[in-house]
Amino acid sequence: MKKLIVANWKCNPKSLQEAKKLFDTIKKATKSIKETEVVICPPFLYLPVLKTKGSKIKLGAQNCFWEEQGAFDGEISPPMLKSVGCSYVIVGHSERRRLFKETDTMINKKIKALIRANLISILCVGETEEEKNKGKFTQVISDQIKKALKGVSRKDIQKVIIAYEPVWAIGTGRACRPIEAQVVHLFIRKIIARLYSRKIAERLPILYGGSVNQKNALDYLKESGMKGLLIGGASLRAKEFIKIIYDTERI
Ligand code: PGA
Repeated sequence: MKKLIVANWKCNPKSLQEAKKLFDTIKKATKSIKETEVVICPPFLYLPVLKTKGSKIKLGAQNCFWEEQGAFDGEISPPMLKSVGCSYVIVGHSERRRLFKETDTMINKKIKALIRANLISILCVGETEEEKNKGKFTQVISDQIKKALKGVSRKDIQKVIIAYEPVWAIGTGRACRPIEAQVVHLFIRKIIARLYSRKIAERLPILYGGSVNQKNALDYLKESGMKGLLIGGASLRAKEFIKIIYDTERI
């Protein structure tokens, strides 16, 4: 399976013109990549405008609602995302959990709705600084995974990717050490093996996210056993993001 490099643009950039420019630069530079799947997750509004045709780039969204349609002001549903060419959707990002009070139950409903729409969920899990200091990270991560995947079948789990994003490392410049990421990576596999099977656990792609940059990116892929990266800040800097993709191609 290819390595997965996911750009999480968050609420950036400020205008469609800037978004197009950034997207086109990445698109041009990645025409001949072979070993890497590049996914760009821009704000919803830009999704139908960024043209992936003739490129290797896949589109993803940063959130979704769990119903297909109806009287739910301001929400965007999985079938809508599918209809504008999305393949992936990030679910349960810590900023959504913290700022928009997303619960594990809501995340579970979103994952099930994405499965119904045949979209791939990128489920984010990770502990806060306080939870880390109290030695609670295993409890937190195992709870988040179990609750998010409640009722997801052995067949449907194939449409889920897990991203380990320690909350204290997101946007802080304090990336997690590759060895720590490796410990969590193995721990996540253990939970999945218990919930499903060892074979499923071995196949499930696990990504790392949190202050990834061009200097540390490869360490997670080489030393932590991660299948890919979920990149925020550095994905908005075209040159740096492209360098990470090229480096990934070479390992
Ligand atoms: P960061 O963000 O790379 O800026 O730390 C990662 C994320 O929020 O997914």
